[in-house]
Amino acid sequence: MISRPGIRIHVSGDEYSEVLQAPRLSDAAEVLKDFGELYLVYDEAVASFAADLAGVVKFRSTVALEVSEEAKSMETVLGICSTLMSAEASREAVLVALGGGTVSDIAGFAAAIYKRGIRTVNIPTTLLAQVDAAIGGKSGVNFQGYKNILGAIRQPLYTILSPEPLTILPRRQYLAGVAELIKTIIVNNEPAVTVQNLRFAHPTIRNAHDPCPFTWPRAAMGFAQSQPVLPESLIVAAAKVKAGIVERDPFEAGERRVLNLGHTFAHAIEHEAAVRGDDILHGEAVAMGIVLAGRLSDRLGESSGMEETLSKMLREAGLIVECPYTIDNLVDAMRQDKKAVGESVSFVLPKAIGDVIVKPVLLDDVRRLLSSD
Ligand code: GLY
Repeated sequence: MISRPGIRIHVSGDEYSEVLQAPRLSDAAEVLKDFGELYLVYDEAVASFAADLAGVVKFRSTVALEVSEEAKSMETVLGICSTLMSAEASREAVLVALGGGTVSDIAGFAAAIYKRGIRTVNIPTTLLAQVDAAIGGKSGVNFQGYKNILGAIRQPLYTILSPEPLTILPRRQYLAGVAELIKTIIVNNEPAVTVQNLRFAHPTIRNAHDPCPFTWPRAAMGFAQSQPVLPESLIVAAAKVKAGIVERDPFEAGERRVLNLGHTFAHAIEHEAAVRGDDILHGEAVAMGIVLAGRLSDRLGESSGMEETLSKMLREAGLIVECPYTIDNLVDAMRQDKKAVGESVSFVLPKAIGDVIVKPVLLDDVRRLLSSD
């Protein structure tokens, strides 16, 4: 049965984007059945969950995506728009995105431009999407080799979190999500965030995948030292932190930028990886990027020992934090960053856990400060 952990983003008037919990993914039917015209875009990797959902919800058309960075393109977006056109989807249509962040990014962008915008429901199936990508309405695709350079911000009606798909998530992808979860913990300036409901612990997740080596974030997320920290509790707590930030700053004019901690470096790392044909997941690049942001913060004198603190956190969680590329490679890629203005780029700099600032830094300074040991 669907439950409402009380996480809502006010959009306008009486319109909200709400985070829901569904013990079984197909429980999403409880809210989807309210809509007359439903379409589904899903990741082929979760085809069995798509089939479960289609067994209890009537979709007019479905689109299966073979998910990859290459698929995150305007061609894929236009393919979804073609499906909607062929099905004569009206402005009342609701597009359900079932999959990881790539699926909500692609489907969300198609929904944002089809007939100037139709509604969406996100059912994220990866940890990364559950704690980050599927909340807050960002969508987008890659263009001319740069990540998410074309996109929109439009809040989904619902983001439905279910532990079920996490049970089949490969460990590498699970850890990539842990990187974004840790990012949220680092930027969380509301230590009062507490666990909504510890009862939603699923033994399957704990047994199958949960490395959950979270000894350190307990205090940062408002957990008592003695409480067992369960993945779903952290997921809901992270969703709450993110929703709060998005509600205060939906269009990233200010505070929301803190959620880009590690991402300026991460996007440069991903760009380099794409050019060289290396296989680095977004969350893996974020882990490396967070540590580089800590090093930059230390070297700019904004913090002391942050590189070491962040590196330890991420390593303890099982992530690799050493970037395989040179600072020169990364700085060259950063010149194309969405946040680049002239010769400087905005960086999110961690001064401490729960205290991050956004500051423009000259790329030449980044090169100089980070090149030396
Ligand atoms: N992924 C960062 C944001 O949604 O703002």
